[in-house]
Order: sequence, then C-alpha cells, then structure tokens
Amino acid sequence: MVAFLENQVALVTGGGRGLGRSVALELAAQGAAVAIDDVYRDESGTGAAESAVREIEEAGGTALALTEDVTTTEGAERMVGTTVDKFGRLDILVTCAGNNVRGPLQELTEQQWDSLMSLHLKGHFLSCKMALPHMIEQDSGRIVTVSSRGAFFQVPASKQDSKDLRKPPSTAYSAAKAGILGLTTTLAVELWETGITVNALLPSASTQLFPETKARMVGGVPASQSLDPGDVAPAVAFLCSDAAADISGRIVYASGGDVILYGNQLDLGGSRMIRKDGRWTHDELAKLLPPLAGVAPGA
Ligand SMILES: NC(=O)c1ccc[n+]([C@@H]2O[C@H](COP(=O)([O-])OP(=O)(O)OC[C@H]3O[C@@H](n4cnc5c(N)ncnc54)[C@H](O)[C@@H]3O)[C@@H](O)[C@H]2O)c1
Repeated sequence: MVAFLENQVALVTGGGRGLGRSVALELAAQGAAVAIDDVYRDESGTGAAESAVREIEEAGGTALALTEDVTTTEGAERMVGTTVDKFGRLDILVTCAGNNVRGPLQELTEQQWDSLMSLHLKGHFLSCKMALPHMIEQDSGRIVTVSSRGAFFQVPASKQDSKDLRKPPSTAYSAAKAGILGLTTTLAVELWETGITVNALLPSASTQLFPETKARMVGGVPASQSLDPGDVAPAVAFLCSDAAADISGRIVYASGGDVILYGNQLDLGGSRMIRKDGRWTHDELAKLLPPLAGVAPGA
C-alpha cells in the first residue's frame, strides 16, 4: 500500500508514550516527518520522545524529539517553532498530552483541578493557537484533539438501575475532556471555510495512564476485545489524510476494531459504528467512514 502522508509534517504532543506514541509511529509509517513532544523521562534520564524518535528512525522514518511543556505559552511556542524550523512546515497536529487524577469531587484539591484543566484544556488551546498560523498560511491542516468518553459520561437509565454504572475517571478529568469537545467543534466552525479540519478522538486503549481499561460496552454492544493503542492509530491517520478533507467538527471513537463516528454530540442517536476483527487499514476507513459522515469517498 502507498504511504498516504508523504511530504507531510506532523506534531504529536504526549507522543512519547501510550496513544501518542502509537499515533506518531503510524503517521511516520505513512510517510510523515513527525515531531514528538513529551516531558516524560524514565529513571535513567532517557526521554520518552527520544526513544520514540529512535524507534521511528530505526524503521526508516524521520522524526524529531521535543521536551516542551504544552501548558506554557513559551513551551508551546518553542514546540511548534522548532518543528517548523526543522521541517519547514506543519500539516498535522495531534494533541495526546494528558494525565488524570482520580477521586471523588470532594477530595479533589484546587491544585489538582487546576493542573488537569491546564494540561488538557489550556494545553489544547496553546498547541492549536501556535500551530494555526502555519496551517492558515498554507490553507491546509489537520488537527485531531483528544477527548474521552468521560466527557459525556453515560449514566444508567434511572437511579434504580446500577447495571451499567462504570467508575468515573474523576469530575475534573471529565470536565476538561468535555471542554475539549467544545473547543474542537467551535474551532472547526471558525475554520470551516479554510482547508483546515479539526476533529476530536475518543480513544480506549491500555496505557500506563489507564492500565486497567477493560473492554466494556460501547454504543450498547460489547466493545472490541483488543486494547492495543496501535489499533487506535489508523483512525487518527485517516483523519489526518486527504481522504478526510471534508470531515470536520466530528467526534470519532476508536478502540480495537471499533470505530464510531458520532453524529451530533447532543443527539447520540445519530451515531454510526463499523466493526471488524482486527486493525482497520487506511483504505478501508477511507472507503467506509466518509459515507457515514454523509461525504462521498474521495470527494
Ligand atoms: N488510554 C485510554 O483509554 C484513553 C481514553 C480516553 C482518553 N485518553 C486520552 O488520551 C491521551 C493519551 O493518553 P494515554 O492513555 O496514551 O496516556 P499516557 O500517559 O501513556 O500518555 C500521555 C503522555 O503525555 C505526556 N505529557 C503529560 N504532560 C505533558 C506536558 N505538560 N507536555 C507534554 N507532554 C506531556 C506524558 O508524559 C505521557 O507520555 C490523554 O489525553 C488521555 O486523557 C486515553
């Protein structure tokens, strides 16, 4: 299969571990030069971004390691500036930097609340703000934000029914992830008449952040069994490709072999789901997802 992101430059925040790393590897495998930003270092001092870059380079790809903090203006500015200095442009932004603090609301401290809002919400705002001038100048770009199903946490039908009650990730996390959906849809509308698209990912995969994630119900049916973060990456790469040029402001769930293209977030009845046993390829997604969004394939 032909790599479909040749000559593209991507920036993946939080790209050193978990979902971000899988996304970075997939974008590189599809031909993009990938800047990977991640603040994490292990006990030996090795940066997660450096090790992801090494993996990409060993596979024959092109990548750049960055260790900027996405929650500061200076960090986000340097992250984008260094990427553009090195690769000459910026086509794709995927914002995977994230964290979580668990616990009921009454036990959350103000500092924990602020730190989750800062990383998830402000981190998205600053990453998009710094990337946009380059995309606007090119009149093309792809932004994939990372939210969560926690943004609209499903509650059982009534208080008498506890059957589908799941343990929430924390109100601060859910509130920040809901904010990301608002940012995503509004930014998509702001950029509607440009060649830039903005879509939100709702992933589910086993990572160091969510190691106990178990396959659960999704869309009212048992979810895909696989929790490999690598299975989420093809849906992200699809959203970054030419095949998704007319898909913007949408919310896309991806986990294992399950991909859901949500309708309106306030009208979940309009959701559409596709499923296979295993990982989707770009060609399959490019054929099946655009019609679900009401877009002709290859339009
Ligand atoms: N894993 C899931 O099932 C799941 C479900 C829903 C949403 N998410 C979201 O997906 C994203 C990635 O999660 P993951 O599970 O891969 O977690 P992860 O911890 O494996 O990856 C997140 C990365 O972000 C980096 N990071 C944290 N703060 C940063 C900062 N200030 N600047 C730059 N990098 C920073 C971390 O070092 C880490 O490597 C998060 O936003 C998470 O909330 C994950």
